[in-house]
Amino acid sequence: MFKTQINAAKATAFKLTEGAVAKSLPAFTITRNRGFLPREDPVQKLPSVFNPVESLLDRMTIHAHGKLNSGLLATGQFGDAVKHELKGLGLEHKVDEAILSNDQMMLSALFRDYAFLTSAYVLEPVDIEFRKTGKYTTGRNVLPRELAVPMKKLAEALGHFPFMEYASVYALQNWARKDPAGDITFDNLELIRAFENHEGSEKGFILVHVDMVANSGKLISAAEDCITAAATKQRDDFNVALEQLYNAYQSINQSMETMWGRSKPADYINFRSFIFGTAPKEGNPMFPEGVIYEGVGDEKPQYFRGESGANDSMIPLGDNLLEITASLPENDLTAVLRDFRQYRPPTQREYIESIEARARLAKVKLFAHGDPKSLALYVLNVDQIREFRNRHWSFTKEYIVRRSAYGIATGGSPILRYLPSNLSIVNLVLEEACSALPGTATLVSSGLSKSLAVNVNACKRRAEVQKRVLEAEMAVWAIVDDQKQNELERTSVRAIPHTDEDLGEQKIMQRGWVGNDGVG
Ligand code: HEM
Repeated sequence: MFKTQINAAKATAFKLTEGAVAKSLPAFTITRNRGFLPREDPVQKLPSVFNPVESLLDRMTIHAHGKLNSGLLATGQFGDAVKHELKGLGLEHKVDEAILSNDQMMLSALFRDYAFLTSAYVLEPVDIEFRKTGKYTTGRNVLPRELAVPMKKLAEALGHFPFMEYASVYALQNWARKDPAGDITFDNLELIRAFENHEGSEKGFILVHVDMVANSGKLISAAEDCITAAATKQRDDFNVALEQLYNAYQSINQSMETMWGRSKPADYINFRSFIFGTAPKEGNPMFPEGVIYEGVGDEKPQYFRGESGANDSMIPLGDNLLEITASLPENDLTAVLRDFRQYRPPTQREYIESIEARARLAKVKLFAHGDPKSLALYVLNVDQIREFRNRHWSFTKEYIVRRSAYGIATGGSPILRYLPSNLSIVNLVLEEACSALPGTATLVSSGLSKSLAVNVNACKRRAEVQKRVLEAEMAVWAIVDDQKQNELERTSVRAIPHTDEDLGEQKIMQRGWVGNDGVG
């Protein structure tokens, strides 16, 4: 009897320890199964002590609960509601208790929810002006302590900047399965939080990202096998891993293509206002003086990049594994790309860096060039990265450039220069690899299937066309960009507007002015 009791006590203690350890694992623990998704489905509801936070989130959405323009953000009452409803509740102490409990999934949910409130608060005036006039204006530059202190504490606990992020807030921590036993696929998903609408295009925009990332476990698995095989010079294993990588990128690109139908190009600017950041520090007309976080001790203006798929890890993984990153020139745009990598959960940041270092050590690219079949598979994978960036550039032109003259993207990059520049580097790597390929007969005799040999030939042709088209396009955008710079030099006084000035958010391609870069 006594022995049984001891064993039961031991079992309970073990369970507790096991449970505590499991809870304290980072939300974005990377595995071959979940990939870059959080290790568990996001927590949907906060503990009841945070009901006032939950209530604001519930009432803020512009079309709340399917009722058009009924939410606090539609009526312009959100900022006041935050000040009145959170004041004096002492929720920051409840945040301290949550941090002490170290339940990482719960902390992530808290961070997500406070970050939603933070972005809604600082960007509410920007959105109101945009809906009224089609032009942006300045955001609020002081964040009240009821939001600032919890944001700062939660961000420190999770290793983030205290602002909205792609993985930990807007996209990868913001979905729930309708059928918990079903797969993580678009049709089985719904949104937890939304600025504009839980349905329609905002839902489509966010959940297509999740649907794509649901394939990232396969990427990670293939990347790991690829590095091991290159390091140990196991040619067959290397080729199998490269083919798996190719299949995974194909699924991801197929899912990405569904964006057109699930999130309409004309709708993006209806929720875009809320995902802007407060960076870059220089020349950001929305936040010329940054944002002061009240009550955090150091009340200097803060500048953070906004939410952007640029902080997703699937393409950086491929860039690093296939050693495309090594071909990036040392310039301001590459500095932006590297800076984007800071805006990720620490586990992903470290993982992406480790892939870069290990692929270099294992000489993945050189090993791929050492065999016709490997080289063909390498080409197919680089072409998938090209395809992603090409489709993505089409999205950007259709969802943003066609409809808005504001030249800074939500992540803070100069829209017209950043994305095409990265695409052109991938083209170069592709062209270099294609030029080393032997003819189709040699590829097939090296073991490449006939259907993949056909795909490789198609890649070669596309690489040439893409290069020509992009070069022509970039020449045009460079002229637009130059005009913009000249315009800014002549009117430099207006480069940082006063609160009541508009930010040129009209779709005029030459004279209107915008931020530091881009069209206007
Ligand atoms: C309507 C759809 C989309 C639009 C309008 C869009 C817009 C943008 C913009 C403007 C950038 C430039 C960086 C910045 O924010 O400053 C960017 C970067 C990026 N976005 Fe998207 N995006 C879309 C969909 C997606 C999707 C579905 C993904 C999938 C994960 C994604 C992943 C990325 C990546 C990886 C980058 C960095 C690109 C690079 O390294 O060349 N985006 N996006």
